[in-house]
Amino acid sequence: MSFYSQDLVEEIRSRSDIVDVISGYIKLQRKGSNYVGVCPFHNDRNPSMSVNQPRQIYHCFSCGAGGDVFKFVMEYENLSFPEAVKVLADRAGVALPKQEYSKEAKKQVDLKAQIMELNKLAAQYYYYTLRQPAGEQGLQYLLSRQLSGETLKKFGLGYADKYSDSLYRYLKDKGYTDQLLKESGLMQVDERRGMYDKFWNRVIFPIMDIRNRVIGFGGRVMGDGKPKYLNSPETAVFDKSRNLYGLNLARMSRKPNIILCEGYMDVIAMHQAGFSQAVASLGTAFTAQQSVILKRYTNEVLLTYDSDEAGVRAALRALPILKEAGLTAKIINMEPYKDPDEFIKARGAEAFQKRIEEAESSFFFELRMMERGYDFSDPQSKTAFFTALSERLLLFEAGVERKTYTEAAAERYHLTYDQLSSMVSQIGRKTGGLKRAPAPVPAAREQRKKEPENAELRSQRLLITWMSSDERAFRSICKYIEPEEFTDPLCRKVAELLREQWASGRLTPASLFQYFTEEEEQKKVAAMLYDTIPKLSGEEEEKKALQETIRRVKLYSIAWQAEHMDQNDLKKLQEILQRRREIEKLHISLD
Ligand code: CTP
Ligand code: MN
Repeated sequence: MSFYSQDLVEEIRSRSDIVDVISGYIKLQRKGSNYVGVCPFHNDRNPSMSVNQPRQIYHCFSCGAGGDVFKFVMEYENLSFPEAVKVLADRAGVALPKQEYSKEAKKQVDLKAQIMELNKLAAQYYYYTLRQPAGEQGLQYLLSRQLSGETLKKFGLGYADKYSDSLYRYLKDKGYTDQLLKESGLMQVDERRGMYDKFWNRVIFPIMDIRNRVIGFGGRVMGDGKPKYLNSPETAVFDKSRNLYGLNLARMSRKPNIILCEGYMDVIAMHQAGFSQAVASLGTAFTAQQSVILKRYTNEVLLTYDSDEAGVRAALRALPILKEAGLTAKIINMEPYKDPDEFIKARGAEAFQKRIEEAESSFFFELRMMERGYDFSDPQSKTAFFTALSERLLLFEAGVERKTYTEAAAERYHLTYDQLSSMVSQIGRKTGGLKRAPAPVPAAREQRKKEPENAELRSQRLLITWMSSDERAFRSICKYIEPEEFTDPLCRKVAELLREQWASGRLTPASLFQYFTEEEEQKKVAAMLYDTIPKLSGEEEEKKALQETIRRVKLYSIAWQAEHMDQNDLKKLQEILQRRREIEKLHISLD
């Protein structure tokens, strides 16, 4: 799975202390023998992530993310394993051998890298076409939208000409296969016409990840055609929920906030006007993952969603997601213009800067939007409004937070704090108590399937935890149990790997992760290696618990065999019964 040798990978690992590396990404604090920090892989404000230095692994107790130092870098930076190896090798100053692939080997290099390469070629091709006679119309269009030459270059804007197979032929000439072209999302396939370009007769917006690699494209018609924008489909490298347009530039902007807008053109116009902290989600609703990513770079997000109804709805949906990630949100008013692009064109950068300074807090924005549905000159409607307001206030956690917002709202509507507060408690009692905001479920937590852990599985996992905890324990346990005796396939595989490691020198639990490619498997392995052995009072008791666990795992293995044997084979049955008696009597000595 990797083209680097195992020795090299271990060399890099030994020079990449996991606490050092992770500290470069998130803040870690020492707690007992571990380090803890806020997990960057799900929305959280509590330090659920724990990093274990002796074992060189990390684990999040909330979302289940976990692994070794390579896994962390892969997850955080959205890299493949070889890419993460490279990042850590560079960091540690370990030289990597020059990779020389045969033609065949080159094809094997992982799909992601190939798609990235294709995307880069495509972006260069579009960029080039825009500046040719064939690109005249595209260039005119972009200039008519008042983009400067420098801006076109900065965003790598391009043009797909009016033939529907130009890019296809260009890439075929370079030897790429139809299969790969299809997986890149650059082509469309239909039964009648075969394969043809996804984008033609459109200006092209390459979408880059934070490392400036092209991961997808947006294409706009020049004029009023439909659909206005086409976007690359999701591919092995393009995950719309985890990327933001413009973040590669915005993250370097050194501004105190990030401005979140709706469209490509908005981001570009803002950057051109000096607001280099602008980003946009990718033609889809703003996601929890995106908010977690933004939190890495800022504490405050300013929204500039379109001032039409759809824009307001989108903003109202984004607010709780931002809040959940621990971000403060404010809303920039662009009236009477539709979007930032139009605002800046009409009023200029200084006026926009003023709007930034006047941005409205998310709470007041919500209230203002709520007011729209009521008529304050009608007593009945007004009462209904205050009921709705109280319900909104009940969504804040009781205590300081709710008090602060109740005060602010009371002032806005010329009430005293006591008046509004008693209304809130009254409504609270009526609607069944003081509920808390229904937190949007972070994706990571959703994915985590909590499988019921039965006693059989628990014993096996516990034994693995024990085996990997120290070499002395490993030695004694191995005297009594073989990897084949684990009935759970994952435990069995870990036991086998531990034994192989032991045979070839020493135990390094952290290097087990690379043998597991499935996300779910990795999480379970992390949990096993990370688990702590139940606290027992004294060595004697611990010894007894360990003996019991070994015995149980052996008995489960026997039970499994009994269940899966040919039920008519009496001789086998006798053997199994005999084995069981032996295990029950077995003296397990752990010294
Ligand atoms: N969008 C899309 N598909 C469409 C329309 C819009 O994917 N058919 C996405 C694009 O990412 C676009 C964003 O939604 O940038 C905002 O759409 P809209 O407000 O309609 O476009 P503008 O950004 O204002 O684009 P322009 O100024 O070029 O009209
Ligand atoms: Mn626009």
